[in-house]
Amino acid sequence: MMACEICEASPKNFARAGEIIRAGGLVAFPTETVYGLGADALSPEAIRGIFDAKGRPQDNPLIVHIADMPDLDRVAVMTEHAYELALMLWPGPLTMVLEAREVVPPETRAGLPTVAVRMPSNDVALALIRAAGTPIAAPSANRSGRPSPTDAATVARDLGDAVDMILDGGAATLGVESTVVDLTGGMAVVLRDGGLSREALARYVELDDPPDAERARRSPGTRHRHYAPKAPVVILGDDHADLASARWGYIGIGEPPRDTSAPARSVVFQNVDEMAHGLYAALRDMEDLDLIAASLPPADGIGMAVRDRLLRAAGKK
Ligand code: TXA
Ligand code: MG
Repeated sequence: MMACEICEASPKNFARAGEIIRAGGLVAFPTETVYGLGADALSPEAIRGIFDAKGRPQDNPLIVHIADMPDLDRVAVMTEHAYELALMLWPGPLTMVLEAREVVPPETRAGLPTVAVRMPSNDVALALIRAAGTPIAAPSANRSGRPSPTDAATVARDLGDAVDMILDGGAATLGVESTVVDLTGGMAVVLRDGGLSREALARYVELDDPPDAERARRSPGTRHRHYAPKAPVVILGDDHADLASARWGYIGIGEPPRDTSAPARSVVFQNVDEMAHGLYAALRDMEDLDLIAASLPPADGIGMAVRDRLLRAAGKK
């Protein structure tokens, strides 16, 4: 075990973290979206370590994180759209699904012919990838099914001894995961809404909008229960939950509804960016209550990702 449980971002610790990755170990690190649980993306044994530590279903592929453009061409078959999106939107919360090159083992891709790639916009993440000298596969650094961690202390609580080192980079700035876009067909398809809005993407590529079933077929991750705290989650104005007799928590933009019993606790956000930033911490903070009642933000911008996570936490997707 390391001298530090949660290690500060320093050149010495980057070097140690890089060694751990090269030796097949696990390093948790910050990104602009959420914290990731990283391992050498090109090593099948290291990748198995990620699945074990998270208790992750084997059919759910991982995102490969890179720090420099030449690595995109190394792990995936480049297309014109991919090149333009990478130039315009990386580093940032955009994950592109592309045809995989053979150097990426089937373990990383869950046997798919494609690979998901992103360049995170976080100096600690980029320094770690460069120190490791290899692309780093990383899912969110939570036990499978739980809300994603947005700070180092939450990673330590969730994964503890299962991880060899945790690099601290403060609170994640965005708070929801990257937007996953499939570029292997004629048109781009958003498989998971995230930190990059559909509106921003649509400035560069034409977006197809297939039925939910088709989206789900192409997106293995969305088949499993996700983002769920221990307390049940209901959506206000949608579910008919009995709030009168429950110790319940409120999460939303603006004050809780007045026509119900008062919430035992509430987290009131001023706008949708704040809600994205604080959503997972709020879900975790309230999981000792009987019930969590959330109001959905409008369906645009980063609100699409917040709605998706809440609907999944409520088991409605
Ligand atoms: O912001 C993020 O994306 C964070 C940080 C750590 O980068 N990572 C993250 O990873 O959210 P994870 O494993 O929790 O979610 C990855 C998503 C899943 O929905 C998975 O199914 C999808 O990406 N994915 C990965 N590879 C894929 C592929 N080849 N085809 C389709 N979907 C893929
Ligand atoms: Mg996740």
